[in-house]
Amino acid sequence: MRLLITAGPTREHIDPVRFLSNCSTGKMGFAIAEAALAAGHEVELVAGPVALTPPASAHYTPVISARDMLAAVMEYLPTVDAVIMTAAVADWRPAEVAQDKLKKHTMEPVIKLVPNPDILSEIKKVKTNQFIVGFAAETRNALEYAKDKLERKGLDMIVANDVSQPGAGFAVDTNIVSFVTQQGIEHFPLMSKREVGAKIISYIESKLS
Ligand code: CTP
Repeated sequence: MRLLITAGPTREHIDPVRFLSNCSTGKMGFAIAEAALAAGHEVELVAGPVALTPPASAHYTPVISARDMLAAVMEYLPTVDAVIMTAAVADWRPAEVAQDKLKKHTMEPVIKLVPNPDILSEIKKVKTNQFIVGFAAETRNALEYAKDKLERKGLDMIVANDVSQPGAGFAVDTNIVSFVTQQGIEHFPLMSKREVGAKIISYIESKLS
């Protein structure tokens, strides 16, 4: 299979030296990319700014903003069998980006935001038969929100994780996930992100074979 995997945060600049972003480190997406490559698949890895080295055999596209990520995803979508969106895409960006560094004494203490495109919703509009996996990192009601996102974003599967639990979520090498599909919910115990990646890859293999 050819897989498109997104990872990491996006960065939404306010001026050349300041930005809005989030806590994503890219570990989950990179671990899925490694699991996919180990299983013999081809990987397009599109990642926001992260401090990780991409696997040598992945085709790697680094991006900065949500709009950059959307452009890369739309370019690769027609060439892949499945998309796994682990990226923590910033929902908002500043309405204006200053060309020069803003000065403390002259800048407004309020930043006006505009919504970013929702990449999964854009995929839904143009996809053919690709299998689409979303992620839902929540701090409460993870399964309830995940089921809602499965429907709203037109996904084949959503991987839900409660990032408030020890050993789950950002910046650690483990995760506690549930796979939510139209067929039901499957819960998994604490596992390495690489093992979570292998489970996701074998699930997709079983659906696309
Ligand atoms: N996502 C996306 N584009 C965005 C925001 C999120 O494609 N602009 C994707 C993420 O990559 C993830 C899924 O949508 O696979 C769920 O992301 P999440 O941030 O949990 O969803 P939101 O739609 O932002 O919902 P909420 O803020 O209500 O939690």
